[in-house]
Amino acid sequence: MQIDVVTLFPEMFQSPFSIGIFKRAIEHELISINLHNIRDYAHDKHRTVDDYPYGGGAGMVLKPEPIFEAVESIKSDIPQKQGGGVLPVILLTPQGRPFSQQVAMELAKYSHLVLICGHYEGVDERVREYLATDEISIGDYVLSGGELAAMVVVDAVVRLLPGVLGSEVSSANDSHTHGLLEYPQYTRPAVYRGWSVPEVLLSGNHAQIARWRSEQAIRRTMERRPELLDKANLYSEEVQLVDRLK
Ligand code: ADE
Repeated sequence: MQIDVVTLFPEMFQSPFSIGIFKRAIEHELISINLHNIRDYAHDKHRTVDDYPYGGGAGMVLKPEPIFEAVESIKSDIPQKQGGGVLPVILLTPQGRPFSQQVAMELAKYSHLVLICGHYEGVDERVREYLATDEISIGDYVLSGGELAAMVVVDAVVRLLPGVLGSEVSSANDSHTHGLLEYPQYTRPAVYRGWSVPEVLLSGNHAQIARWRSEQAIRRTMERRPELLDKANLYSEEVQLVDRLK
């Protein structure tokens, strides 16, 4: 997957993208991440990227020209043979559709993503209307820019790509993948400061362990995020368990 990030602060991405799963994924050529500085597409000698809002009001608004030209330059570098599919151009904004594991799985199907990080009081509306194909919010709070949101989206998407995590199953049991929170995990020692690992996990009985985990995931979800249960994809035994626990 190719990921192009259009941002005023490319240096913010340097450290997160050079460690952990990103480092591995880049080295193994599973992803390539290109950072584009909006300022490089400014027209004047002061490299102006923002301006006062028409109609007045506090704060500055990101100008459309540098953002359009940055994205157009990315598009012009796409080899013709790949030109057929739609290229998602995603604007990170608190006004976007809520990001979720479902949205991450949807984005993981593309071979190329473009992310635009907004800043200041906002982005000229013509960027939303005529350039972005999608708008994503990572939560109901306002960040000072779209960079951290872009990192969240890229992290959640990249870890779903085949080969990025150590083993293919490691993202399959994640919290939210099936609409439930994850069951509790333990590792050695079996007793730590007097606190024991649940007996069943030491039993070696795989069917029992699977049943325990499924019950724990349901209990946890009921206790912490009951609203998730209504949307979850449950097996019939899980539905019965929910009814019993209720
Ligand atoms: N930019 C500022 N706040 C944001 C948010 N919550 N999600 C996505 N982009 C943002």
